[in-house]
Amino acid sequence: MTLLAHWLDRQTGDRELASVIATMADAAVEIAEVLRRAPIEGQVGLLGTTNVQGEAQKALDVISNDIVLRHIENNPAISVLVSEELDEPVQLGNQGAFLVATDPLDGSSNLDVNVTVGTIFSVLKAAGGLLQKGTAQVAAGYVAYGPATSLVVRIEGPVAVFTLSAAGEWVQTLEQASVPEASGEFAINTARERFWDEATRGYVRESVAGESGPAGKRYNMRWVGSMVADVHRILMRGGVFLYPLDSETASKGGRLRLLYEANPMAWLVEGAGGASTTGQQGILAVEPTDIHQRVPVILGSVEEVRRVENWYSRG
Ligand code: AHG
Ligand code: MN
Ligand code: MN
Repeated sequence: MTLLAHWLDRQTGDRELASVIATMADAAVEIAEVLRRAPIEGQVGLLGTTNVQGEAQKALDVISNDIVLRHIENNPAISVLVSEELDEPVQLGNQGAFLVATDPLDGSSNLDVNVTVGTIFSVLKAAGGLLQKGTAQVAAGYVAYGPATSLVVRIEGPVAVFTLSAAGEWVQTLEQASVPEASGEFAINTARERFWDEATRGYVRESVAGESGPAGKRYNMRWVGSMVADVHRILMRGGVFLYPLDSETASKGGRLRLLYEANPMAWLVEGAGGASTTGQQGILAVEPTDIHQRVPVILGSVEEVRRVENWYSRG
């Protein structure tokens, strides 16, 4: 049985970098505990009123952020924190070599229906500054709080999967995730069809046409609405996730955030043999201009991402 600490020892000689991953994993254990108790403690909208639901979701976003911040403050290897929940980056006042960018609670609209949510994180060298391309990441990972609590993490090498045991230990349950090259599953919010561009319409039309269409095979659609859950499915069995630029999100650059959603997920998916694109360029090649910048996201099985790219190159 391999535990996270042993795996970290094997993956990197950099003890500080290993400690950054351990810190995020520790924070996630605490977040998992809060999420498990939340319905009992009234932190999700069991009463069903919009107001209470709205406030409750927000409370868990903030609580998760506070947990991550507290753990990070105790690790002198981390000198900067960028979080979805904090307008400004937090300078921690130490000389730590690393910067962490995080979405402390992803998919929070799924909280009140007990559907998988997650924590996403990206690790960069602090010396590179706040605005670094995804290719500069030195580690990335996410935690999926689902039927099991899974930690998926990569430091240059394999994308490894750990499962939180009843004893609170991260037990390795997969040595190397590998995204199948081909797949028959796509994930997109089809209720946004009226906002889509031609490429997205073309790709989905082709997929829905099934065996007799130009793709020549049958597709299924899956959309959890938590990026962590949708990407986890793709890492485990393939498929493609799309949150493309559409006419409603165009003015903002997209829906999902580059630094703590798109980059870490693209780096993990590519590390597992998959591909990623904005439709115009690889996600990891996007030059950030703002810590909360948004970006179109298409990632997953190579064949599917190439099919989407083909549609974009026609445009
Ligand atoms: P967050 O909860 O951190 O704001 O992120 C939600 C994101 C992402 O998890 C998911 O893929 C997407 O929003 C869902 O969007 P729709 O509401 O369009 O389904
Ligand atoms: Mn999110
Ligand atoms: Mn979030």
